[in-house]
Amino acid sequence: MKATCVFVAVLIALAAGNAAMAAEAPAGAASCSGCHAGNARVETPVPRLAGRPAADITDAMLAYKSGKQAGTIMDRIAKGFSDEEIRAIASWYATQK
Ligand code: HEC
Repeated sequence: MKATCVFVAVLIALAAGNAAMAAEAPAGAASCSGCHAGNARVETPVPRLAGRPAADITDAMLAYKSGKQAGTIMDRIAKGFSDEEIRAIASWYATQK
């Protein structure tokens, strides 16, 4: 019984988080917004992705993935995505405000 409640609470939290994003966000894109602010009004030391040219995001991700660019965390995150997924996420973020 208790486990079911936790499961439902998680589902509701996920649904609420996703509603803020455009429905057609590609797989993986929602995971970035935990650290990279989803909109311009948020002050954060983590660089914003929304509205950045897709090529910038793709180049940075591929550089982290190959180890050309050192990161505190992005090198590890980038390795979890295929080049195709990175391109899809980058194009999607480029269209966000
Ligand atoms: C755990 C927090 C965290 C998550 C999740 C995260 N990032 Fe990052 N990102 C950072 C930090 C911190 C930096 C600064 C570089 C570093 O320290 O690794 C960064 C840097 C970047 C940069 C370089 C920006 C620049 O101007 O140099 C890009 C592009 C990027 N992230 C894309 C993504 C994408 C795409 C995702 C989702 C797949 C993502 N990040 C998920 C924390 C995160």
